[in-house]
Formats: sequence, structure tokens, C-alpha cells
Amino acid sequence: MDKTQDTIDLLKEYNQHHIINLLSKIEEKEKEELIEQISNIDFDQIMELYDNTKKEIEIKENKIESTSYLDKEKLTKEQKEEFDMLGETAIRKGEYAVVTMAGGQGTRLGHTGPKGTFKLDVYGKGKYLFEILAENLKEANQKYETIIPWYIMTSKENNEETVNFLEKNNYFGYSQKDIIIFTQSELPLVDTEGKLLINKEMKIKEASDGNGGTYSSLRASGSLADMKERGIKWIFIGGVDNVLLKMADVTLLGMAIKKGVQIASKSVVKANPHEKVGVFCKMNNHPKVIEYAELPEKMAEETDINGELKYGESHIMCNLYTIDAIEKVSKEALMYHSAFKKNSYIDENGREIIPEEPNSYKFESFIFDAFEFFDDIAILRGKREDDFAPVKNKEGVDSPKTAKELYEKYWERQKRGT
Ligand code: UTP
Repeated sequence: MDKTQDTIDLLKEYNQHHIINLLSKIEEKEKEELIEQISNIDFDQIMELYDNTKKEIEIKENKIESTSYLDKEKLTKEQKEEFDMLGETAIRKGEYAVVTMAGGQGTRLGHTGPKGTFKLDVYGKGKYLFEILAENLKEANQKYETIIPWYIMTSKENNEETVNFLEKNNYFGYSQKDIIIFTQSELPLVDTEGKLLINKEMKIKEASDGNGGTYSSLRASGSLADMKERGIKWIFIGGVDNVLLKMADVTLLGMAIKKGVQIASKSVVKANPHEKVGVFCKMNNHPKVIEYAELPEKMAEETDINGELKYGESHIMCNLYTIDAIEKVSKEALMYHSAFKKNSYIDENGREIIPEEPNSYKFESFIFDAFEFFDDIAILRGKREDDFAPVKNKEGVDSPKTAKELYEKYWERQKRGT
């Protein structure tokens, strides 16, 4: 069988003539590698995902209701003490692990390099995002006299750079045997005409398949098995870019233990009805996060009898699971969403094109799409100024400037004990 001819036939079938053209121009070794890569791509899946980018999202058929939560500020003294004691005991017993999702591309921030290697300009000297997270965990380790295993998820694209960076910085003083780095899976990127992009290595350009890939990647990488061996019962999964993230919140953990739920999450109340964040709700009786673009305007503005937004609990990538919950969702296929992003590529003349406007779709599954596999979720409302300072955009809202301000103010308050 002629592998090259088969590949050409396949590419014709899926309207990828620019890659046929490329195959005729590159050297034998590159050609073999490209053919190998193509043989591992599920073109039906990619073309279906591309077709879906043109369809409108329908949520009208579904029954959407608001969801309940506990406000950390309004817990009684006894409630708070009980939660904290339960959470602290589990951490002290070595039953708690943390996962940091660091496989994103960080396109909006525009930092060259993995997002965790971005240095936030705090206190003159600055701190890397990974450093801030390491400090947060080390503080918990000291307080609870344990070492919390820290799993860091990278992408194929940024793994090497992340590992080198952490090594060079001596893992910011974290015990190396308790840092486990694993890599998530990828999917090809497609342009607005459904054509796959080519990268500088003359391969099809792929990118991580969204933070929903965390669950299956934990399993595939052996990290889930490692957790079981260590006797882990609770797993916290957080993002890399919230400089006020509390990676070991005993109140959240204790609340989940007390309520006997499989999943729990920290929220903060929406800054305004139209803030661009996903919010918690119940859809067809299951927990769900609706993205801002998918929430009808009327619902976004709806208030309850206390005058609070009915759909006001924002999802801030601060999620907690039992190990059984991770085991379960690691075997489920989550739906994919498409994100229209700026991605550089090599054009038909071999030139690198760095677009100024979004030019291609990245297909991603979202971490919160796993919630609907459960009957219930326990939500703890935190405080924005204590819990949420994301570094997303280069400028404006959720930028290094706003995160720096929130971070410095938070630590000033801590020092003053207020
Ligand atoms: P975002 O969705 O905000 O993406 O990720 P991002 O990569 O940081 O930024 P943009 O959208 O390209 O500008 C939220 C969290 O999920 C992780 C990110 O690293 C971040 O911690 N993530 C995202 C992954 O680990 N893998 C992915 O495929 C996507």
C-alpha cells in the first residue's frame, strides 16, 4: 500500500489541498513525520467540530434554575469552626492533593512562554505566577505539617519550557518528589475555511484541548494512579493565573466533607450582571456553569427576593473533587467548545504569518462541563478581594495591573490582620 497516496486521498476527501501541496515540497524525513501525524488525526471529529462553529447554541429547551450556595462571610462561628476542623484534619492526614492547570496558551496576555513563567510586577522585585502558587502551597504545608502533592498539567507546546523554568528556579523551594508534571492532549487548529494550520516545523499545528482535558490526562499520565498510591481522597484543581487563589482552603474542603458531596467549588459574586464570567446554575437538575455568552440577558439581570443576582455566582476555576469523582469523569467524553483565537501559521509560500486578529478555531473542553455528571455540587461564596485576581488580558480588566493591585492590597490587609 502506498502510504503517501493514501494520505493524499484522505487530505483530498477533507479538502486539505494545502497540505498535499506541502507534502510535495518538504524533505523525505519531514514528509514521513507529517504522514505519521496525519494518520493520528480524527478528521471526522475535527470537521464536525468545525461545522459546529457555525451553529447557534441552543439552551432554550433546557430547564435552568438558580443554585444554592453558602457564603463564607455569613457562616456561623460554629459552622466555620466545624468546616475548618474537618478540612484541616484531612489535609494533615495527607489526603489532599492539588492540580494546577498550566496547559493554556495564554493568548490574551501575549506573554512569550508558559503563563506560569510570567512575572507579576509586585513589590519591586516581582514574582512569577508559579512562584506565587508555590508560596501559597508552602504556607499550607507549614501550617498543616504536611507536604501536599502538587500536580502540574502542561501542554505538549509548553512542557519543556515549563520543566526547564521550574528546574532553573529550584521548584521555588518545593520538595521535588512532591511535584508531578504531566502533559495534556491536543487537537488541531482550523482556520475559518476549515483548513488545518501548519506550524514552523512543517507539521499540522495542534494545541491543548482545553482544561476539560485535565481529567482524562490525569488518568492517562498515571497521575491518578499515583494519587491513589499516596492515599489521596480529595483533589483540588485550580488555574495557573489567579494570584489570590487559595490552593488549600480548609473551609471549602470541610464544607464538602460535611455535606458529603463529590464535588465542590468556590465562587465570587459577579461584579455586575454583564461581567464576562461563567455562572453556576442547575440545568435539568444537574449542576452546570453557563458561559456569559450563553446566558440570556433577562436571566443575567434577574434578581432574587434579597435583591441579589439569581445567576450571580461566578465560576473562578477553584474546584474540589473526591478521588472517585475524578475517576468517574476521567472516563467521560466532555463536549467541545470552539474559541476563535489568534494563531500564527506558515502559509503556502512558506512564510510565517502572525495574525493581528483572531484567525482560527481552537477546540476545547471545559473543566466545568464535568459537573453535570453529578447530582449536586456544594458552592462556597468567597470574597472577590480575597480570592480572585486573574491575569488574563494584556491591559484593562483582569490584567497584570489589576492583579498587582489586588495582590498587594490583600497582603497589606493580611499584615495588618484586617
Ligand atoms: P483560559 O481559558 O483562561 O486560557 O485558561 P489561557 O490559556 O490561560 O488564556 P487565553 O484564553 O489563551 O488567553 C484557564 C486555565 O486553564 C488552563 C490555563 O492554563 C489556565 O490555568 N488551561 C486552559 C489548560 O491547562 N489547558 C488548556 O487547554 C486550556
